[in-house]
Formats: sequence, structure tokens, C-alpha cells
Amino acid sequence: MNTQPRRVENIATDRGVIPMYATGVVEQPWGSYSRSDHEIWATLFRRQRELLPGRACAAFLANQQALAMSEDAIPRFDALNRHLRAATGWELVGVEGLLPEEVFFDHLAHRRFPVTWWIRRADQLDYIAEPDLFHDLFGHVPLLMNPVFADYMQAYGQGGLRAQREFGDEALLNLTRLYWYTVEFGLIREPAGLRIYGAGIVSSKGESIYCLQSSAPNRIGFDLERVMRTRYRIDSYQKTYFVIDGFEQLFEATRQDFAPIYPRVAGARAVPAGSVLAHDHVINRGSGEGWPEGTDA
Ligand SMILES: [Fe+2]
Repeated sequence: MNTQPRRVENIATDRGVIPMYATGVVEQPWGSYSRSDHEIWATLFRRQRELLPGRACAAFLANQQALAMSEDAIPRFDALNRHLRAATGWELVGVEGLLPEEVFFDHLAHRRFPVTWWIRRADQLDYIAEPDLFHDLFGHVPLLMNPVFADYMQAYGQGGLRAQREFGDEALLNLTRLYWYTVEFGLIREPAGLRIYGAGIVSSKGESIYCLQSSAPNRIGFDLERVMRTRYRIDSYQKTYFVIDGFEQLFEATRQDFAPIYPRVAGARAVPAGSVLAHDHVINRGSGEGWPEGTDA
């Protein structure tokens, strides 16, 4: 590839060193994708599309097809935007990589979804620590075609902006957990059984299988405040997945005023990623087999 993402600096955080990118919106440099970039897209696309029928939720599979994503080439953001605008009024904007929270929230609040323009290397097919084009496009974009999920994403962005103005760091951490356990790693109950809707799962071969078939993780019914208290893993498959009954449940939960919720959550103890609580609606209690040692994020 001719172009390089503009990585501004690496910053040290409590989760290790993470790259910080320039925050501006960039034109997708479609013409500069190499043959190998398109091949990486094709390999990942094929692999996940073979795996996901019977695992991903119906809305994800149908909408990905409606967007006309295929293995033929890396999709053009412009072409996807024509479908998205017509369906839900969302649009994709190209970005260099992970964004600071305030920039990210502002995009979502205005129904813009930031997509990393570059794709991973061939030696990163199974795992990459930061979001790339495959994760963002393949994983996140199909559900933006769903009107209820699309509204949830915007409400999330609006809630994030408000939390920054009025409620501070603890509230932002609660929102990060909510995003993690829904948008990235959420499961949904469908008539035929549990299905995946989280982008972090559908873009990962290993976790697409593990989250539904392994007896190790907990699967627990979604509860907003429980999720906001729950720590998570960034270095392994999740120890706990939260299950929604439908996207309406998600949107309804976030329609309420969060102002009284933050102090309640702050007053309760944070829950370790693998714990099961007395009042949980437990769908499966995990065996914990193979869970890594070490601290949750
Ligand atoms: Fe993501």
C-alpha cells in the first residue's frame, strides 16, 4: 500500500501502549489498495461468511447481503453509503484508526460511523489488537442498516457526549463497558437459539465458534446496570456474554435518563469479568475452563 495511516504517537495507558491517530476524516484511498489488501479482504470475508449462517443473527446476515458486500474486492465506502443513507440515514466516514472518545461520540451522535481505511496484514488474519477495515466494515456496518440498532448507536453517542459534559470519567467507563458487551460482544436470542450480533465476534473466526459452542463462558441475560458494572477482557475471548431478547430491548434500556443510574452504578462494586451474581438471569453458567489469569480491563 502506498499510503500509511497517520499515527500521531503511541500513548501509555493502563491497558498498555496504544496508538493514537490523527482524528480527521479521510477519503478512502481505494485506488491505493494493493492486490494483497483485496486478497486479505477476500480470505476473511469468505471464511466468516461460511461460518456465520446459523451463528450470526438474521439481521446481520440479511443486511450484509443488502449492502452487496462481497469477496470480490474491498467495498467502496461511497457505494455502502448509498444503501445506508436510504435505509437509516447513517453514513461511513474514513478514519486513520482508533479515535479519542469525544471524537467517536460526536460521529455516532450525528449518525456517522468511523471506519478505519487500512486493512490488516496477512500475518494478522486471526488476531489484530486494534480495529482495522475488516473489523469495522464487515463487523459493524451491516447492523447500521437495522433501524432500531441504528437508533441505539446514535443514542449511545449522544449519551457519551452528555456523560463527558456532565458526569466524568466513571460514567465514561460505564459506557465503555456497555459498548463492549453489546455492540462488540453481544449475543441475541432468536427463535432458533442464541445468535451473535457483536462486531468483535462476527469479525473473529475463533470467537464466532467459542461464544456459542464453548461451555467455558457465562451467558447471562442483559441488564443495563449489571453490564455497566462488569469488567471485561481485552486479551482473550470473553468470560461472560450478555444476551438481549431483541434490539428494542437495547434501545429501550438506553432511552431512560442515565443521570440517576451513574451514581447507583458508582456505589456498587465493579464485577469481575467471570463472576455470576445472585440476581443474574443465568442462561449458561460457564465452567471457566481455560480462562486466563490476570486482571480484567
Ligand atoms: Fe469495533
